Amino acid sequence: PLQPVLLSGGSGTRLWPLSREAYPKQFLPLVDDDTLLQATWRRVAALADTAPIVVAGEEHRFLVAEQLRQIGAPRPAILLEPVGRNTAPAIAAAALQAMAAGDDPLLLVLPSDHVVRDAAAFQAAVRAAMPAAEAGMLVTFGIVPTAPETGFGYIQAERGGAEGVRRVLRFVEKPDAATAQAYLDAGGYYWNSGMFLLLASRYLQELQRFRPDILAGVRAAFAAAARDGDFIRLDKTAFAACPSDSIDYAVMEKTDAAAVLPVDIGWNDVGSWSALWEVSAQDADGNAHHGDVIAIDSRNSYAYARRLVALVGVDDLVVVETDDAVLVARKDRVQQVKDVVARLKAEA
Ligand code: GDD
Ligand code: MG
Repeated sequence: PLQPVLLSGGSGTRLWPLSREAYPKQFLPLVDDDTLLQATWRRVAALADTAPIVVAGEEHRFLVAEQLRQIGAPRPAILLEPVGRNTAPAIAAAALQAMAAGDDPLLLVLPSDHVVRDAAAFQAAVRAAMPAAEAGMLVTFGIVPTAPETGFGYIQAERGGAEGVRRVLRFVEKPDAATAQAYLDAGGYYWNSGMFLLLASRYLQELQRFRPDILAGVRAAFAAAARDGDFIRLDKTAFAACPSDSIDYAVMEKTDAAAVLPVDIGWNDVGSWSALWEVSAQDADGNAHHGDVIAIDSRNSYAYARRLVALVGVDDLVVVETDDAVLVARKDRVQQVKDVVARLKAEA
């Protein structure tokens, strides 16, 4: 059986002023009428024979439940974290939940805040990865890199052999810029898409091997969890005492059971407004917008409008208009939006 696990823990500050701590990007309809969380479930529904396990922060429980209900998803088990401890503990909690009934399903771990434009190719990739995962490999899905981005994991795949799932020679999480550039020049490296296919028991074994402290913390929090309908609240004291780390550092960099399936699925992690411009439908002038926007003599711009927004004679701009804030930025400077958020925090 295939058990989807949707991770919903990020805060997405680079999409300010739309994405906020109280309302991060997975809960927003950024590309079409579906929120990213809803689109994630729709993409996986065709593959799955069970309801999803969602791992989310306590404060987002009603958003998760309501958004999945709206699209007719089967009622999920929603694991609630009293505090964020990053993805290694979140996935461990999901594995324990998935195994609670005595099964050992394949976990399809998916970020709930990414865009995947080719759902059919995604589904075919997951199917193609299943035999390797059943055999005990921790399978990642690799994206052909296009720039020396430092925000991704880099996966060196074994060369040669057939297309399809390959052994990982090296997994390096978030290298510095020079290292990333060296990997690009060398070739044979992929970006980690952040999606994983692995047996629940294998993940727990590898976590036990490399980070027994994390597994012990999650086991304690799960054993003392409070169940309340679809919500499963991890024990606050135990989970707060659990070390924080990502699956990438805690397991993927260290394991020798990693595999990668290179994919071409229209993946984008929508890490910035310019990334959102890239994945959105553009008109003949390269403008993309969401909401009511008029563009005259303007090119390659992105506008997000709640009220009416008009662009006249501007190129390469991002304009985001919400109830309480307006962002106007050059498209090549959108990484600095996080500086706005930092300043707001400092002044608060
Ligand atoms: N439930 C839960 N709890 N989810 C979490 C938590 C947490 O504490 N922390 C992060 N997540 C979710 C995020 O919402 C996101 O969907 C996913 O897990 C990945 O976390 P990010 O914080 O976005 O990771 P990243 O972008 O820095 O790096 C990861 O993704 C890259 C691709 O986008 C790594 O896997 C990289 O190797 C990868 O290249
Ligand atoms: Mg991310």
